[in-house]
Amino acid sequence: MSILIKGGTVVGPSGAYPADVLVDGETIAAIFAPGQGPADGPEVIDATGKYVIPGGVDAHTHMQLPFGGTAASDTFDTGTRAAAIGGTTTIIDFAVQRYGEVVQDGLAAWHAKADGNCHIDYGFHMILGGVDDDALKAMDQLVSTEGITSFKLFMAYPGVFYSDDGQILRAMQKARDNGAMIMMHAENGPAIDVLVKQALERGETDPIHHGLTRPQELEAEATSRAIWLAGVAADCPLYIVHLSASKALEQVKAARDLGRNVFAETCPQYLYLTLEDQLGAPGFEGAKWVCSTPLRSKHESHRADLWQGLRTNDLSVVSTDHCPFCMKDQKELGRGDFSKIPNGIGSVEHRVDLLYQGVVDGKLSLARWVETIATTPARMFGMYPRKGIIAPGSDADIVLYDPNARTRISVETHHMNMDHSAWEGWEIDGKVDTVLSRGEVISRGGEYTGRAGRGKYVPRALSDYLL
Ligand code: URP
Ligand code: ZN
Ligand code: ZN
Repeated sequence: MSILIKGGTVVGPSGAYPADVLVDGETIAAIFAPGQGPADGPEVIDATGKYVIPGGVDAHTHMQLPFGGTAASDTFDTGTRAAAIGGTTTIIDFAVQRYGEVVQDGLAAWHAKADGNCHIDYGFHMILGGVDDDALKAMDQLVSTEGITSFKLFMAYPGVFYSDDGQILRAMQKARDNGAMIMMHAENGPAIDVLVKQALERGETDPIHHGLTRPQELEAEATSRAIWLAGVAADCPLYIVHLSASKALEQVKAARDLGRNVFAETCPQYLYLTLEDQLGAPGFEGAKWVCSTPLRSKHESHRADLWQGLRTNDLSVVSTDHCPFCMKDQKELGRGDFSKIPNGIGSVEHRVDLLYQGVVDGKLSLARWVETIATTPARMFGMYPRKGIIAPGSDADIVLYDPNARTRISVETHHMNMDHSAWEGWEIDGKVDTVLSRGEVISRGGEYTGRAGRGKYVPRALSDYLL
């Protein structure tokens, strides 16, 4: 079936221009100057007054992640449906190998969770929770035959996902050889654990102490150490995940200024929310915003620095780190002890809108909006040009975005499986109007018409950005 998206303004990484887009089956067939497309034949979708952008690519989600004594509350079904409604048409989720487990078994478990349940296309990164000889061998196999070309390591969470510097170096050397990307959770976990213990001994148990025991210096130190280690591993490709703070950004910027293979993402929560206003909310309310890295102080320049980093490409990608937990029975596990609050915020439905607000606020250009939420994540993680761009031959993952409508975020209206919203009451200029995934209209004017199981696994190539 063919569809002509007519009268809109196509936005891509190189800017905005009026054009009509012809979709044939699952892919984009052609882009026409306005009015030059086929006069009859295809179904016409009127895009007058709307931006026509590539479907969002969220490169960092955790559906059903077992974590903190519970599991992230969105399944692949509920989470990818919410993502789709919010204009994201591809996610890259993190499959998990825990210490002592076989990497391939962890991957098989993730395929089993996702297979037949996703509303949109998806790929996987692999978390390595135990780097040993077998895991290193598995890295080669995942790159060469499974379409998994990125591996996340943790400098935090000793006893859970933590890798020591020797393990990190070995994994980086392997990645240097097979071309994979090392994704780093850069926080000094052992030092944080000391601060957490001391805080609890002083009776400091409220959610805000989650942030106060994870000072930005421990993110910056770990970021710097990861960059040095990647240098020792002959400039292994390194991608810092969920970067939250100015001093960590300085480390990334310095490495990039030297031409290093170092990249970073940030997330909407670090661009907008703060330690004082959210994590420090009265009583136990702040638990909603416990995530790691933590929200930073509004009295420092973090948010302004992160927006600037997005403009200068020192931050290349905006992902959500979608890891939702309900207050009831989940976040509540940490009442009286902040260290037991499961870490994570859910935003997979709102990333496209939240970043568009940056355009309205004059912090990001239209082109950079599309680049950071769609094009660059696709290129960074080997999905381009199939994903992340409106171009002939690309998958017809397309969002019609209405800049004149408004979005109001609330737990009453969102589609994520959460009993609260981290963005409750937020009003945004702009709204996702229509979503196509591989040529199928799955959401239109707020009405969802997709279905679980239509999303396909996308094996990924190596990153486009490697030297
Ligand atoms: O708080 C977070 N970020 N939870 C998800 C796990 C991770 O470290 O990304
Ligand atoms: Zn992490
Ligand atoms: Zn994460």
